[in-house]
Formats: sequence, C-alpha cells, structure tokens
Amino acid sequence: MPSLAGEVLFLPSTPGKFKDKSHTMHRQFHRCFASSSTMFLWALFLVVLTASYLSFQSFVDSSSKYLSAAWGGIQWEKQVRASAQIHRLNGLSVLVTGAAGFVGTHVSLTLKKRGDGIVGLDNFNNYYDPTLKKARQSLLNSHNIFVVEGDVNDQRMLAKLFDIVAFSHVMHLAAQAGVRYAMENPNSYVHSNIAGLVTLLEACKNANPQPAITWASSSSVYGLNEKVPFSESDKTDQPASLYAATKKAGEEITHTYNHIYGLSITGLRFFTVYGPWGRPDMAYFSFTRSILLGKPITVYRGKNGVNLARDFTYIDDIVKGCVASLDTAKRSTGSGGKKRVRLSIGSSIWASANQGERLTMSTERLNQSTDRIKESRCAALKTEELGVSILEYMQQQRETL
Ligand SMILES: NC(=O)c1ccc[n+]([C@@H]2O[C@H](COP(=O)([O-])OP(=O)(O)OC[C@H]3O[C@@H](n4cnc5c(N)ncnc54)[C@H](O)[C@@H]3O)[C@@H](O)[C@H]2O)c1
Repeated sequence: MPSLAGEVLFLPSTPGKFKDKSHTMHRQFHRCFASSSTMFLWALFLVVLTASYLSFQSFVDSSSKYLSAAWGGIQWEKQVRASAQIHRLNGLSVLVTGAAGFVGTHVSLTLKKRGDGIVGLDNFNNYYDPTLKKARQSLLNSHNIFVVEGDVNDQRMLAKLFDIVAFSHVMHLAAQAGVRYAMENPNSYVHSNIAGLVTLLEACKNANPQPAITWASSSSVYGLNEKVPFSESDKTDQPASLYAATKKAGEEITHTYNHIYGLSITGLRFFTVYGPWGRPDMAYFSFTRSILLGKPITVYRGKNGVNLARDFTYIDDIVKGCVASLDTAKRSTGSGGKKRVRLSIGSSIWASANQGERLTMSTERLNQSTDRIKESRCAALKTEELGVSILEYMQQQRETL
C-alpha cells in the first residue's frame, strides 16, 4: 500500500497525469464487486432503478395520453371532416382558433350560416369562467360546428388538422386577452400570443395548400400615443402593457412570415368589442354589476384631470370586418419570393355624439423585391361618407393596390 506520502508523490501536476488515480479507482471498483453481498446490493439497486424508470415511462405515456385525449381517433376525425364540409359554391374552409371565445363564436356562426366549412379550436383556459366558453361551444355544436379542444402550441394536433382538412383560410383569434392579468400570469401572454402564433404560422407554412390567414391584433398597439384618431401610419413602439407588447410582437412576426414564406396574412386591430356573449372581464360587465349592486364606480382621469374616453365596437361590425378580410384575402404564394400584399385594418367607432360614427382604415402595400413600403394611405371617414359596405370598401382597397 502506498503511504500517504507516497500518494502525495503521485498527485498529478497536470490533468494529463490522472491515469494513476483512475487506476486506483478501478481497483476500488473491482474490490466493491468482490464480495457477493455487495453484488446483491448492486443487483437490487439496478432492479429498483429499472422499475422506477418503467413506471416513470408509463406515467409520461398516460399523462401525454391524457393531454391529447381531447383530440385524435376515428370519431374525432369524422367530426372534424363533417364540420369542415362546405355548403355553398366557392365557399371557404376555415380553421377558427379561439372559437369558444367571444369573437370566435360570432365569426364561426356567421361563416357557418352562409355555408362555409368551419372547424373551431380552443383550449378552454380558465382566464375567465370556462363554463361560458362551454356554453358557446354548445351553441356552436347546435349549428354543427365542431370545436377541437386543443392548444395552438400543439404542433402535432395542428399538423393532424391540416392533414385532414385542406383549409383555405385560418381565422386566428386565440389569444391571452386582457391587460391586468399580465401582472398575475405574464407567461400566459407569451405562451398564447407569441409562441402559439409562431406554432400556428409554422403549421400554415407547412400545409399544402397554404391557407390565407387573418388574425386579431389590437388597438392597444397604439400604446402611449396621444394623437386621435389613431392612424395606421402612427408609430406603435410604445406599448403600455405586456398584452400590447405581445400583439405588437405578433405584427412583426406575421410580417416576417409574409416576407419569407409568402403567407397571405391580414392583421386586424380591434377596438374594444362589446355585445352578446361578451367577455366578463371587461369594464362594462363590472360597471353593470356595480350598478345592480348599488356600488360606486371608480372613474379615472387622464393627465391634467382630463376625462378619459374609450372606443367600443359592436360585435357585428367586428364580424363584418373579419368576414370581409377573409373574403378579400389573396392566396398564400409559397416561398417563391413573389410580390404579396398585406392589408391592415383598424376600425374605430367614436362614442362622442357630435363626431358621429367614424371608421378608420388604411392599407399598406409591400413590395417584396425592394422590401419597402411603397404606398401607405390612411383615412378617417364617417361611415356615411363611405357609402359602401365594409366588404365593398375593402374589395375596392385591395383592387387599387
Ligand atoms: N374583445 C376585444 O375587445 C378585443 C380587442 C382587441 C383585440 N382582441 C383580440 O381578439 C381576439 C378574440 O378576443 P375575444 O374577446 O374573443 O377573447 P376571448 O378570450 O373571449 O377568446 C379567446 C379564446 O382563445 C382561447 N385561447 C387562448 N389561448 C389559447 C391557446 N393557446 N390555444 C387555444 N386556444 C386559446 C381562449 O380559451 C378563448 O376562448 C383575441 O386575439 C384578442 O386579443 C379582442
């Protein structure tokens, strides 16, 4: 046995001299297995390790089965196909994400009623009471619209859906909405509004045929801008909430997918939407609740004590805008580098009586070869000045591009 002093002598001066030490370790290892009782203990250890690995595997399998239990299978595919059936000439085949949400339900119903094929998708999260989402799902069901329970981050599920149905359009409304909730659960905004958007765009990019996409951004991207009415040529680099920041990020991300992959993408900036089946997290609900309970309503003021105003848009107008943008969307062109058009719409109805109803719209034309915005037009028009329906107006706009 080498003495301690001897071992000290063998201490490596550089890592390259570690050989001797490993030799010592090898001897110790050998000694360890020398006795049969130690062998037994090692065997027992290996058995326990294997058993735990197998039970962990079955846990993972069963939990992934549980996660994906809401989709897949012959019956599920049948429901998807039936729901996607088109019942009119030149009808659309639309995947509506966030279908059990407020806007998603109305858009799905309108499209279905005119004979388009609709498949809904929603993860029924509990940001607000999911029983309301389930009630909307029942309403959709009664109109033969099937809502898949799943998350837009689920690549496999999306690939399966595009495999089953050749969607001509995607109406992307799934998102983490609300401003204040970001203080409680900031990651939910990144999960749905950024990661989920990218996963969906990837699925659209890989689909054959590639669908045209219309998605909901938000007027919140105008952020700290003070000039009113807002215009699409306004800068949108000062978001005032995480929600707004994720919507702004969405606008940049969709631009990239249009630019690189030729996906036809239309982004709509909704101004606060109200109407039947509305979202219970909105102020008009809490105001009504307070009034019914005889409680005071806190009224906030802006800078220098000025009164604050907010634009509200009735759900039917939002639905018209969504349907019009689906109807007038150009086809996705694949990654051939051809010229593509992006139409971005913001609509705002002004509450102030003397200003009357206003509708702001603008179009941007992107020239792919120079990657520069060639033309940008903005208009703030009274609806009666338009003299045409939103659909006709949008068609005219696209035709002049
Ligand atoms: N309602 C408004 O006032 C308003 C204003 C501006 C923008 N928007 C945008 O319009 C869209 C629709 O809004 P809404 O009012 O109907 O909201 P909503 O919350 O009622 O609907 C969104 C739906 O998406 C689902 N969802 C969320 N994350 C998902 C995910 N990762 N995978 C699958 N489903 C998911 C939710 O369960 C919900 O049912 C959203 O993109 C929202 O940001 C709404």
